[in-house]
Amino acid sequence: MSFDDHSKIPETSGSMESTKLSKARDTWGSRLGVIMAVAGSAIGLGNFLRFPAKVAANSGGAFMIPYFISLLLLGIPLMWIEWTLGRFGGGFGHGTAPGVFHSVWQKNRFIKYFGIIGIFGPMVIFIYYTYIESWTLAYSFFSLMGKYDRLVDQTGMKSFLSAFQGLESNEYFHNLGWAYGFFLLTFVANAWVIYHGIKGGIERFCKWALPLLFFFAFVLFFRVLSLGAPDPAKPDWNIFHGFGFVWNPDFSKLLSAKVWLEAAGQIFFTLSVGIGVILTYASYLKKGDDVVLSGTTAAATNELAEVILGGSIILPAAFVFFGPVEIQSVAHSGVFNLGFVTMPLILNHLPLSHGMGFFWFFLLFLAGITSSVSLAQPAVAFLEDEFNLKRNKAVAIFTVAAFILCQPAIFFLKNGVVDELDFWGGTFFLVVFATVEVILFSWVFGMNKAWDEIHHGADLQVPIIYKFIIKYITPLFLFFILGMWFFQEWIPIIFMRNVAPENQPYILGTRIGLLAMFVALAVLVKIAWRGKSLPKAVKQ
Ligand code: PFF
Repeated sequence: MSFDDHSKIPETSGSMESTKLSKARDTWGSRLGVIMAVAGSAIGLGNFLRFPAKVAANSGGAFMIPYFISLLLLGIPLMWIEWTLGRFGGGFGHGTAPGVFHSVWQKNRFIKYFGIIGIFGPMVIFIYYTYIESWTLAYSFFSLMGKYDRLVDQTGMKSFLSAFQGLESNEYFHNLGWAYGFFLLTFVANAWVIYHGIKGGIERFCKWALPLLFFFAFVLFFRVLSLGAPDPAKPDWNIFHGFGFVWNPDFSKLLSAKVWLEAAGQIFFTLSVGIGVILTYASYLKKGDDVVLSGTTAAATNELAEVILGGSIILPAAFVFFGPVEIQSVAHSGVFNLGFVTMPLILNHLPLSHGMGFFWFFLLFLAGITSSVSLAQPAVAFLEDEFNLKRNKAVAIFTVAAFILCQPAIFFLKNGVVDELDFWGGTFFLVVFATVEVILFSWVFGMNKAWDEIHHGADLQVPIIYKFIIKYITPLFLFFILGMWFFQEWIPIIFMRNVAPENQPYILGTRIGLLAMFVALAVLVKIAWRGKSLPKAVKQ
């Protein structure tokens, strides 16, 4: 079915009625604007922190093989699928997965409930992502103020970070006050952008934030490239060996399923696909807007930021400063330590350290906020589209709910709540949702119609091999990942075998909270669709 055929869809469908009932939806202002917004969503903390940590943990260059295979077989196809499905659903007045899925499979009463993941997942990520984003704003301020510039070793910088996070009290911070203050600022900044809408808020903001982000990233990139060996007695501690450390492959690791799972997970996370966000953004396209070239451009921009910039800043620089032995433990010290301990330490050793520190953290902040606003948008769009709420009301409801939900991530960080949220929102549900999407697209919608729909208004022809890939390879790959995951990890995860006993109540609490959130969304979907079956006059 192509877009033009909408008129032929039976009028009995609730989604068709909602098209007639709902007010005019927001739209993007320009093609460049939507590409910038999607690239802004994709380029985030994942590119500059999560990616280097994954590369280091998974044997450097060898990681790039499953990474690029996942990009070609999962990431890019899902990007096109989400752009296409989103634009399709938007034509019915639906900007979130319950409505989009229902528009595709109108006869099925249950499919909309699978779509709940497309609101739930982004909200779960939003809850912890915004908090971490607020640390980058705080550290931008600390860099400018020189608040940590006397710290020259890992121990000092680590205690600065943990006191800031409220994990301990020491001479740097006594409580969570600073962290909470910056969280509030960050939260308000997000709400402010979302409040101004698609064109007036998100697009306008991304149009200046993204170029600025690239500017900061290139400055740091060239700064790292020009690093000389700091100690003449150790000429091997140089930038070339730093790149060697990052990229020299250890092919034996490719036999491990974990490396493949992590590479696929990173592709989903970094491209923001498999979660409903791109679906929502694409629902604001017009029916003749190209999706192939735009989707590909957004994905390519993200890969440039990730592989070239994200892969060349922290780790090579850390090698130069810490040398071939210590880098091993530094590289495996985790995402937060790399970003908030290693990098500021390195910058403290360089001239203009205050400015460079600011560049690094403000780069992260811009990357973070252009992503977090995209995570908020599905929930807001759901309230607007399915309950006919005005934007300010929808944003107000979202803001209150999200603010409350953020609190456990802030106060129970040390009990593993953020990791738990990241596992469900940022890993597990991505794969489940992507599987539903690809099946729906290629098997329910039908691959021939889907192919036409992708190419509607397209400026670029997708290579024909992708007809086969999208229909068979992408779903099989996803089933394989899910299967492996169930086989290897299901039991320990469900029974919390890897969770310290004292943290188990917190993790259980988080799971109950997530379940409650899911059920609440299911009830909302049910209510929204009940309303749609009412006669038009009653609804109005
Ligand atoms: N892509 C973002 C990053 O790399 O940090 C994170 C993200 C944003 C994931 C939006 C998922 C999403 F829907």
